Amino acid sequence: MAAQNPYSIIPLLIIMLFNLAHLAFTDNMSSFTFERFVDDDHEKLLSFRGDSSIYLEALQLTPETPNDAHSWKQKNASGRIMYHKPFRFWIGDGGDEYRLASFNTTFVINIYRERDWEAGSGLAFLIAPNASIPEASYGQYLGLTNASTDGNTANHFVAIEFDTEKQDDIEDPDHNHIGFNINSIRSKNATSLDKYNITLSPDPPGVNYTVWVDYNGTSKLMQVYMVKEGNQKPGEPLLNETIDLKEYLKKESYFGFAASTGDPRIELNCVLKWSLQINNQPDEKNDEKWWKIAAGVCVSVVMIIFIFVVCGVVFVRKRRSKASLEEATEFDTYILKWLPGMPREFKYKELKKATSNFHESLKLGEGGFGIVYKGVLLLNDKADDGTTTTITEIAVKKFSRDSIRGKDDFLAELTIIHHLRHKNLVRLVGWCYEKGKLLLVYDFMPNGSLEKHLQKGPEQDTLNWNRRYRILVGVASALHYLHNEYDKKVVHRDIKTSNILLDADFNSRLGDFGLARALENEKNSYNELGLGGVPGTMGYVAPECFHTGRATPESDVFGFGVVVLEVVCGKGPGTKIHHNQHLYSMVDWVWTLHREGRILEAVDENLSNDFVHDEANRLLLLGLACSHPIDSERPKTETITQIVSGTLPPPHVPPIKPAFTWPSMSTTDSTTGSLSSMTSSSRSYARTQSGIKLRRTTSSLRV
Ligand SMILES: *[C@@H]1O[C@H](CO)[C@@H](O)[C@H](O)[C@H]1NC(C)=O
Ligand SMILES: *[C@@H]1O[C@H](CO)[C@@H](O)[C@H](O)[C@H]1NC(C)=O
Ligand SMILES: *[C@@H]1O[C@H](CO)[C@@H](O)[C@H](O)[C@H]1NC(C)=O
Repeated sequence: MAAQNPYSIIPLLIIMLFNLAHLAFTDNMSSFTFERFVDDDHEKLLSFRGDSSIYLEALQLTPETPNDAHSWKQKNASGRIMYHKPFRFWIGDGGDEYRLASFNTTFVINIYRERDWEAGSGLAFLIAPNASIPEASYGQYLGLTNASTDGNTANHFVAIEFDTEKQDDIEDPDHNHIGFNINSIRSKNATSLDKYNITLSPDPPGVNYTVWVDYNGTSKLMQVYMVKEGNQKPGEPLLNETIDLKEYLKKESYFGFAASTGDPRIELNCVLKWSLQINNQPDEKNDEKWWKIAAGVCVSVVMIIFIFVVCGVVFVRKRRSKASLEEATEFDTYILKWLPGMPREFKYKELKKATSNFHESLKLGEGGFGIVYKGVLLLNDKADDGTTTTITEIAVKKFSRDSIRGKDDFLAELTIIHHLRHKNLVRLVGWCYEKGKLLLVYDFMPNGSLEKHLQKGPEQDTLNWNRRYRILVGVASALHYLHNEYDKKVVHRDIKTSNILLDADFNSRLGDFGLARALENEKNSYNELGLGGVPGTMGYVAPECFHTGRATPESDVFGFGVVVLEVVCGKGPGTKIHHNQHLYSMVDWVWTLHREGRILEAVDENLSNDFVHDEANRLLLLGLACSHPIDSERPKTETITQIVSGTLPPPHVPPIKPAFTWPSMSTTDSTTGSLSSMTSSSRSYARTQSGIKLRRTTSSLRV
């Protein structure tokens, strides 16, 4: 697009001119920001050594093969990733006459381990003389040194280690600490993170931490702050170290990361975001300053003239034809900026352009809250060595006006989802609220919805057993995160296969938080949304919701159970199945097979016999347990994640589906009054369902 339009170069020129003026007026400041890491765009800006790579939009310092946990590749691995060019750390060489650079860097790390792994070894932020990595730097050496180079002053590195393994010989405090290291893995100063309520390799995994490393070249003070991602920078640093970097580093040094795993202790060492700003003020003399100001003024004058010329051109073009009007929106090009923890705000014009004015052909799906379109964004990413244009595919959810009450609902949704970060949730890229129009921008998921894949016939079945299993592991993990991550529990409310999206590698991402509300007191009433009746989709709604009208973590678990059965059986929840001269719903059919001791017959025929019997048995029983008519009997997400990971045995499921009773005998709800329980067979329960008017969401892709 950009290449076809000669005017697309104008914003780039303006940015360049601004940069020039900026250089002339200000100190020698360099900075870079990676909001996430994308293979093709960022590989040239980084140097990779050892076992490192980019995968799933993150720096993977050691191999990322979570589905192949004990593969040899993950053991005894080490890797380094450094920014491709060095920075100057001080100015002036002669004796005491030097000035140290100051820098601030922020990065987000995720150290992942499965429940049954013991984490090891650790990750480090690093300033080093080059990008190379010593041989045999695995295990305790963190990709920093090895048995022969450790402690050598010729190493010239300074590092902050995030260590998940206690090494007694080098006096590590524990299995969970950070340390300040110079030329060695033996920390000069270390502090345990337990007292800060931080676990580097948490269980359950999926917790990201934001780290700030600030260095002041004047006071020579280095400070390290760390907190769960999404929170503000804490007031107090975890580590404080006064250090003259000139004594240890080379004048030109590189920033980056290193990490290692051991044997048997392993972990995944990921960096998700990184930004850095370094300020190496030259020791200017006054005449130099005058020269600079003069240069700055010249540049500014040229720039102003240039802008006038450009505006003139645009004005003329605007008058010439309406088509050129569209092209004038090229001026919306912006510099990609990362504000930690916050998706960015888009201009309506940008999104309109990205989706070709919300063109019908780009429609991905339609849901209760609005329509989802595919879009393409051209991001001008300002790097140190010029401006590169990145093409990013997005999904834009455009809220229909009458389906939400307005700004308050929208902002309520935004405040929740902008805090939610999990690899199995669809990532929110940004939002827009302009002229009463509400839009959310998400990552585009190339493989569409899980529902779409389940509906395919056997010839084009894309979901083999391993994929199906991994998809469910992902959904369980996302649900566990939603229910437990914050002091405010988040209830999804609409778990179903059309809301589970698949990325390029068929990893599941839970989408559509349109119905999510933080579970605060009674605020989680379905009616609050003003939709009338029960939202959610027929077949996925837990029986108690018809009475309470409220979504709860238990009703989410019910929806999850239906999804599990759907994925294993390859049948939708509404399918009617003939079995022994009876017509059953999917859940009742599986329950009957379970009673008859033939539960594996429920597995999707499309898979023929290509599935792991043990795993299928575990999932089917789990699906039934989650579909328990009585909410308090359903497993919690913690148990669910343990069952899918195999650390807990499959749940016990009674041979006959228990009756649904209301009010539930096991909860003490005095406000509901009548305690006469309404017992119903599953058949009459089905009648109850159809007797209530449901807002039926048409099958659609909703992000
Ligand atoms: C890892 O290294 C240790 C000691 O250096 C060695 O005993 C072990 O066999 C190695 N494991 C693998 C998988 O290479
Ligand atoms: C800024 O620093 C870089 C090295 O980091 C150096 O090459 C460049 O000349 C400096 N620019 C100014 C204006 O001092
Ligand atoms: C440590 O690394 C250096 C540089 O890669 C290498 O020459 C040396 O052999 C390594 N030492 C050990 C014990 O592996």
